[in-house]
Amino acid sequence: MRTPPRIYIAGHRGMVGSAIVRQLLAQGHPAERIVTRTHAELDLTDQAAVRTFFEVEKPDQVYLAAAKVGGIYANNTYPAEFIYSNLMVEANVIDTAFRHGVQKLLFLGSGCIYPKLAQQPMREEALLTGPLEATNEPYAIAKIAGIKLCESYNRQYGASHGVDYRSVMPTNLYGPGDNYHPENSHVIPALIRRFHEAKINNAPSIAIWGSGTPKREFLYVDDMAAACVRVMNLDKAIYDQHTQPMLSHINVSCGHDITIRELAEAIGKAVDYQGEITFDPSKPDGTPRRLMDSSRLNTLGWHAKIGLEQGLQLAYADFQKTALSSIEGKNTP
Ligand SMILES: NC(=O)c1ccc[n+]([C@@H]2O[C@H](COP(=O)([O-])OP(=O)(O)OC[C@H]3O[C@@H](n4cnc5c(N)ncnc54)[C@H](OP(=O)(O)O)[C@@H]3O)[C@@H](O)[C@H]2O)c1
Repeated sequence: MRTPPRIYIAGHRGMVGSAIVRQLLAQGHPAERIVTRTHAELDLTDQAAVRTFFEVEKPDQVYLAAAKVGGIYANNTYPAEFIYSNLMVEANVIDTAFRHGVQKLLFLGSGCIYPKLAQQPMREEALLTGPLEATNEPYAIAKIAGIKLCESYNRQYGASHGVDYRSVMPTNLYGPGDNYHPENSHVIPALIRRFHEAKINNAPSIAIWGSGTPKREFLYVDDMAAACVRVMNLDKAIYDQHTQPMLSHINVSCGHDITIRELAEAIGKAVDYQGEITFDPSKPDGTPRRLMDSSRLNTLGWHAKIGLEQGLQLAYADFQKTALSSIEGKNTP
């Protein structure tokens, strides 16, 4: 029997990285063939440390789910940290993986790589067709660089060294292990926390910024992890058939969106908040719609399995179980 590959999950304590570990274990991958390091043990911006790690651990495959991640506030307040850290992590991990003979690597990008005014739903072809959203432009530029790193190593070393580095672009994710920090979190964990606090404080109402009309889509993180493992393991001929050498990334999304009002109501239901939900249209709404087209991945056989109602219940259970004791401080830059 073939020995299972030795797989390095970069960012295994993050929301996505931990879901990839769960997914691999659930698919029967032996735990002893999964390699991990915490941020404290290995700073991926440190090139020498990354090289030593690959030298010692000799992984066969890499899932690159480590990144400096945050919401609008964090991206806007710490743009230098966002572009520097993400560029360094990607460049170090991808180049060092190549130098140590890793042929298979999956890079995780983000839907923010697409232009601010991209046609909806956003297809992979929209990449580099227009200006990006200003608030997270540095982060998005780093993510685009990650895709181009993978493509460039494939183009230069694919034939000679068997390099096969792939990229996936997830939509907004949520689920176990999310970041519930009051200022640095994304919309679902931020609202879960606010609704929970409103419930335990018996607050009669909760006010949401904006009109509630913008539409967004959300994917449960375990669905994302299943997509990652599927894309990593796709037969190369099939992958090549559905991608191009310089347009190789694959969107991962559930394919339908909801208004912020519908989202707030769904979170209120999951948290069992009985008060009133109000909206403050004097506050900015942001882009009216951000929906990704996942037909490329759907034709490759992946579909989201966990709907929003079930996903929010699971996320709230996780928040109650693990996050409440340690919500202070996570991802504080
Ligand atoms: N969450 C979403 O909605 C979403 C949406 C689209 C794309 N993505 C992408 O998915 C990937 C993972 O996101 P996530 O939500 O899982 O983020 P996360 O929960 O913040 O996890 C990221 C992990 O990376 C680690 N990390 C960051 N910088 C590092 C460094 N210099 N050295 C070593 N480890 C480092 C973090 O460790 P510390 O916490 O200890 O720093 C953390 O464990 C990212 O590439 C992100 O862009 C996420």
